[in-house]
Amino acid sequence: MNQSTASMSSFLSIILIINFLLIAFSHQQSSSSRASEIGPLARELLESARKPEFFDWVRGVRRRIHQYPELGFEEHKTSQLIRSELDSLAVEYAWPVAKTGVVASIGSGARPFFALRADMDALSLQELVDWEYRSKIDGKMHACGHDSHVAMLLGAAKLLQARKDKLKGTVKLVFQPGEEGYAGAYHMLQDTVLDNVEAIFGLHVYPSFSTGAIASRPGPVLAGAGLFTATIQGKGGHAAMPHTTKDPILVASLAIIALQQIVSRETDPLEAGVVTVGFIEGGQAGNAIPEIVKFGGTYRSLSPQGLSHTKGRIKEVVTVGFIEGGQAGNAIPEIVKFGGTYRSLSPQVLVNDEVLYEHAKGVGEVLLGKQNVQILPVTMGAEDFSFYSQKMPAVMYAVGTKNETLKSDHPLHSPHFFIDEEALQIGSAFHAAVAMSYLDSHSEVD
Ligand SMILES: *[C@@H]1O[C@H](CO)[C@@H](O)[C@H](O)[C@H]1NC(C)=O
Repeated sequence: MNQSTASMSSFLSIILIINFLLIAFSHQQSSSSRASEIGPLARELLESARKPEFFDWVRGVRRRIHQYPELGFEEHKTSQLIRSELDSLAVEYAWPVAKTGVVASIGSGARPFFALRADMDALSLQELVDWEYRSKIDGKMHACGHDSHVAMLLGAAKLLQARKDKLKGTVKLVFQPGEEGYAGAYHMLQDTVLDNVEAIFGLHVYPSFSTGAIASRPGPVLAGAGLFTATIQGKGGHAAMPHTTKDPILVASLAIIALQQIVSRETDPLEAGVVTVGFIEGGQAGNAIPEIVKFGGTYRSLSPQGLSHTKGRIKEVVTVGFIEGGQAGNAIPEIVKFGGTYRSLSPQVLVNDEVLYEHAKGVGEVLLGKQNVQILPVTMGAEDFSFYSQKMPAVMYAVGTKNETLKSDHPLHSPHFFIDEEALQIGSAFHAAVAMSYLDSHSEVD
């Protein structure tokens, strides 16, 4: 390095340091002035949500829904319960939206319009938790916390309605059906009732964070996901005379192994991808070769390109690969189908909006303390909240429900899933505080 480049580079580093200080200083200033505005409001909301009458009510709502779980687009009882609670709060709503969905409005009726979202459906799963309010419906369970999501959003409705004259705009409370593979969010967006919404916020209970903590991250946070099924048409016959048959079991086996190479051999190791075969059906007798085998599964990626590439390769690997290769006595892989009726609309990558993420983070920090706002790890799970995120700024936060005493650390979708219901107070207040402060900072009149 000669003299002039050395002095040039030290000059540049000074500029960079000054720049950095300016940015850090202005950032600190803006976030602390924001915190002082949000502070009293957020604390008041949390205090209200922690009152015993409020807790009894919100927990009661959650338990009533928990006992009568309903699957996607069948949430009639849940929808009825939501509407009757909104009626008692004297909150107006639109219904039906996407069959069983409800969209309530609180505030001035004018812009800005900010939305809060809860999903309503349960899973086909037998609850194995032995407690007073367990599911009364065999084979159905709220094992993904949507009962709590509805309760927290009704909690927010109660908190917001009590302060409706202070709202500098309108909060839309979106009770959405069919999140579990039915693209309910997509169907909600087909209705004009959400047309003027400018941004949306969602909560999800999360058993890997303790009660009292929340977590999220900016940018991609959940995968885009699709489903596929493949049918292998063979020619059945006696197991002792395989040469006279076309064995679809062998073709399916080879295809399933070949599919594993899409991620392991064709995808950049630094890019996340999943191809999982989750079911295989075919054959009944040990001494017969069946006519047909079906298998299927899911593919996932954190980028739209990755998702469509993987989808294309699944089809090629199963069909073209085997027809041309002529493996296994020419059993013909007939169809590779992607999705089903509702499922053909698969959630895309969920991307949290950075500005909205920061806004909610600021609210969470005054509500719960800085140490209780954590970073959510990226996972390859999927959420149809991504349909909103493709249309408007959107952010999702996790609400911790883990409690050592209650042993509420079983994962989502487990038949042992159980939550610490104290999180319902936090979620209700967090929803309401994010919405009110969003309207405050986006209203034109002051
Ligand atoms: C855990 O649950 C117990 C029993 O409900 C409760 O007393 C305690 O406050 C909870 N702990 C936390 C950290 O919320």
